[in-house]
Amino acid sequence: MVKDKVTSMMKPAADKKSVDMHQLLEGHSLIFASNRGPVEFRTDEDGTMTPHRGAGGMVSALEAALRGVNATWVASAMTPEDETVAHDSGGGAFAFPPEDPTYSVRLIPIEGRAYHRYYDVISNLLLWFMQHYLWDIPFWPDVNEHTHRAWAEGYQPVNELFAGELVKAASESPGKPLLMLQDYHLYLCARHIRERMPDALIHHFTHSPWCQPDYLRLLPPYMRNELVEGLLSCDVVSFHTDRYATNFLWCCRQLTDHPVDLARGTVRVGERRVLVRHHPISIDYQGLAREAGTDEVSRHRKEIRHAVGGRKMILRVDRVELSKNILRGFKLYREFLNRYHEWWGKVVFLAFLYPSRLGLAVYRRYIADIEAEVEALNEEFATKSWQPVVLEIEDNYPRSLAGLCEYDVLMVNPLFDGMNLVSKEGAVLNKRNGVLLLSENAGSFDELEGGVIPISPLDVEGGAGALNEALLMNEGERARRASELVRVVRGNTAADWLAGQVEDIMEAGRTT
Ligand code: G6P
Repeated sequence: MVKDKVTSMMKPAADKKSVDMHQLLEGHSLIFASNRGPVEFRTDEDGTMTPHRGAGGMVSALEAALRGVNATWVASAMTPEDETVAHDSGGGAFAFPPEDPTYSVRLIPIEGRAYHRYYDVISNLLLWFMQHYLWDIPFWPDVNEHTHRAWAEGYQPVNELFAGELVKAASESPGKPLLMLQDYHLYLCARHIRERMPDALIHHFTHSPWCQPDYLRLLPPYMRNELVEGLLSCDVVSFHTDRYATNFLWCCRQLTDHPVDLARGTVRVGERRVLVRHHPISIDYQGLAREAGTDEVSRHRKEIRHAVGGRKMILRVDRVELSKNILRGFKLYREFLNRYHEWWGKVVFLAFLYPSRLGLAVYRRYIADIEAEVEALNEEFATKSWQPVVLEIEDNYPRSLAGLCEYDVLMVNPLFDGMNLVSKEGAVLNKRNGVLLLSENAGSFDELEGGVIPISPLDVEGGAGALNEALLMNEGERARRASELVRVVRGNTAADWLAGQVEDIMEAGRTT
């Protein structure tokens, strides 16, 4: 039934968007940049070098948005094989995917130590933690010699390197270049591009939250100035939600001398006017439905149902990431089991987690803490016939899709999250009118609010009550909420996200 609905709504939306994008982009060449690209080459067991899709929901959403748009995508070479490909293509772009090329990819080889400083030390440890308010400021971080050096010898030069490649890609492109930079890895890039191409149309999108000015002020002045001025070298600076865009405008107002118009969402930088906008990213629900329809996913669905038996299934699917609040999710579950004994033996919590950023000790510790918490929970509550938590830490995409089809309750409780695509994927894939418990601090909350049970991310007691409410919800109400979620997610696709931003850039191009 749900599936039929998906199919019948697919085509018109897709056709409409591709026509719009072609019109919008007429005479322009879209050049896209992100640290992680859509493809990563690895050597398989039989010695052949094969392309694998870039990991993570953000890359898939971007990939879906760019399909059919004829863009060039510039990204870091992540593996030695990527470097070989970059080298073999003479540093230029190659069409991808080979069997049905939809865009060109240009991979940038980056020296190992500089990459570590840029990616691990500055992007993932300093900026990611700042933007998600994950610092424990009485204790850490220290901005020390190591950090200053990582900035000067990693973050700055790698951003400059990206800028150089983007300028090259722009000068080789047939139309007026329109450069779209993604995320916290590339905050300093636009400034270098602007110096070399003063008339370029430059856009930056941040996929994480943007923090408030007092928090940003904790960074040394030169760092925070470079971040903000770097972004203000763009024509459009964009975020997922109004909250993040407003935080950025307040940062500009309090930390720079540029005139800021909060109501219009603009910052005047000399002769230029920078637009600050928000566009919530979404998913390619048609592509996702196809991926979830494979035999492999069906096999996992059967296995999962068999393991869950007649019990209610609570699910979480996350990268092992501190901002996802995974440990507190288990504390919430413990509180729930302590308060509602009637559920003992009648629920099972599946946690499908995939490892991430293992180069950083804090992520390795987090995995160990999660494992210890789950072990303790199971020791405390398990019986001969019931294991209350099943934890699977592996990168198993088909299994995650299967879980999303089958849950009764999906727990999405991040402390802060730029968007949270799992909440949207679950909404369109689930086949049981499952209930979504969603943190008020997920970017997706603003869109999905009407169909979820909200949870406050620190409140384990309130969350336990919310979980009980979700499990007891009657079928009519579940169905109403589930269809509301489907309606909202299908109403804003990955292609809409891109189209909205290209419209902003065109507006900026007319008014600057
Ligand atoms: C998540 C974040 C994105 C970020 C990406 C980087 O998906 O939401 O904002 O760009 O992680 O992941 P990576 O594995 O490349 O560090």
